[in-house]
Amino acid sequence: MADFFPPPVLPLAIRFDPHTALAEPSGPVVTRRISDLEGLFADAAAWERLRADGDPVIYSVASSPVPELARELPQSVTTIHPGDCGGEFFMTKGHQHPDPQGEIYLGLAGKGGLLLFNGERPDWIDMSPGMIGYIPPGWAHRSVNVGSEPYRFLAVYPGSAGHDYQWVVEHGMGHRIWRSAAGFELKSFGGSS
Ligand SMILES: [Fe+2]
Repeated sequence: MADFFPPPVLPLAIRFDPHTALAEPSGPVVTRRISDLEGLFADAAAWERLRADGDPVIYSVASSPVPELARELPQSVTTIHPGDCGGEFFMTKGHQHPDPQGEIYLGLAGKGGLLLFNGERPDWIDMSPGMIGYIPPGWAHRSVNVGSEPYRFLAVYPGSAGHDYQWVVEHGMGHRIWRSAAGFELKSFGGSS
């Protein structure tokens, strides 16, 4: 598997293929299946049915080879497939940055959203191609596909930020995103189940 470049990293042109979303030159590629998102969807029975029925890929993250090290500025392209688990739209695990640093997302394809939570109040940014969502320091973030096509976005983040997934398991994200007659709706989280 491709890996991050060792420092020092030289000036670098990176091409993200718009059809495959893979980077050239490539860094790590992470694939998350429904089984990797245990305990994150509200409907545990629906989650188990999906897991038993082929364990579908929910999203993948293709990184450039810029390393996740202090002062570097890594990038990745995430693709979330369309669908829902018991009515709750497919989403990323969500994470908090152990080193509180900001991050930007740029919508590339599809219709999605950026759910943010600072431990006290949630926020939501509609994402579509050309939209930049800004994640301030201290806000956990999760992306959601609320459309019928793959939702794809570019992330650019400080290399020292890190990924704390357990924070979201313990604190939740304030809201869940459900399929509705109008497309989607946000409902209060009610714990971390
Ligand atoms: Fe992040």
